[in-house]
Amino acid sequence: MLVIPKGEFVVGSILFSGPCSCEAPLMVQVSGTVLPQSHTKTAEGAEWITFSSIDGLILSGKGTFNGLGEKSWKHKCKGCDRLPASLKFIKVNNAIVNGIQSVNAKGFHMMISICDNLWIDDVTITAPDDSPNTDGIHMSKTNMLKITNSRIGTGDDCVSIIHGSTNITVENVDCGPGHGISIGSLGHYDSEADVFGITVRNCTFTDTDNGVRIKTYKSDSPSRASGIIYEDLVMKNVKNPIIIDQEYGRRGDSQHSKVSITDVQFSNIRGTSASKVAVELICSKANPCKGVSLKNINLQFAGTGQATIPFSSNCTNVKVSYSGTQSPPPCPP
Ligand SMILES: *[C@@H]1O[C@H](CO)[C@@H](O)[C@H](O)[C@H]1NC(C)=O
Ligand SMILES: *[C@@H]1O[C@H](CO)[C@@H](O)[C@H](O)[C@H]1NC(C)=O
Ligand SMILES: *[C@@H]1O[C@H](CO)[C@@H](O)[C@H](O)[C@H]1NC(C)=O
Repeated sequence: MLVIPKGEFVVGSILFSGPCSCEAPLMVQVSGTVLPQSHTKTAEGAEWITFSSIDGLILSGKGTFNGLGEKSWKHKCKGCDRLPASLKFIKVNNAIVNGIQSVNAKGFHMMISICDNLWIDDVTITAPDDSPNTDGIHMSKTNMLKITNSRIGTGDDCVSIIHGSTNITVENVDCGPGHGISIGSLGHYDSEADVFGITVRNCTFTDTDNGVRIKTYKSDSPSRASGIIYEDLVMKNVKNPIIIDQEYGRRGDSQHSKVSITDVQFSNIRGTSASKVAVELICSKANPCKGVSLKNINLQFAGTGQATIPFSSNCTNVKVSYSGTQSPPPCPP
């Protein structure tokens, strides 16, 4: 067991690398505040605190990882590498992260890749709403990840789920400020693995740019995103409460996204929209979305301006099946 007691502790870029020979899970208990060493450059590609190749890890406590990102964000230049994530988990299986706080990461707060069976519970993640690329929890190539009972507010996505993420559950999470809970961007790299089995349930979004979003590039990189359930969500002054955007950006000279989106259920979603087009389902002309359903959607416009636009939905390259309440009104058949 590694114990970080009360107090402030300064560490540079550090890697905890397995496999471990001990039988019990590796335990890291944090009560104090962990701060980065100033003026040390992180080695290329490295993050701040990385756990790698570990089977059985419990990271818990009420302590804080403070990345002091506010000292780096303003120096971020275009085309530079992204700034280091505060906590990276790579090839970590059977792990629990509980109770900890992450403040002002330089880059992502938590970055999870090639992991299996993780439970992140009761974490608090904060960064200002104008901090660049400070995603709360970012994952790829990971199976069976559960995020529960947590509070996430940053300058980017609260949770971002990219290629190769499967069987992911996000439940009882308060998101905001930030860009919402996103699947994507997909279609960013060549030969991306599919995304499937994503459930976002009983979450509240406050003053976010998006609520639940699926975004893909117009690119020739084909993959599938399927089996996605969004249910029991509350939106408070959210710009795009429900959004599929397959025109998010362009890679190469492709005109349309090759990502196919199928079986997406939105149900019991209520609250307020800061924009008039509260439901936007913009699918790819090359790959229309299939099996999209909306059930009991009860959103009200609570913004200002946009007097000439009706409170509405926009469906492009998708046939939606509707049931129950629909506000905004459904797209014309
Ligand atoms: C993830 O979901 C798929 C499809 O539902 C399933 O085949 C697979 O076994 C799941 N992985 C688990 C439970 O680890
Ligand atoms: C929904 O989430 C809130 C906190 O975000 C929690 O207090 C409540 O118990 C959750 N409800 C269910 C049914 O899980
Ligand atoms: C719907 O979205 C499409 C694609 O972004 C856009 O071209 C179109 O103008 C939108 N329609 C309305 C009524 O907002």
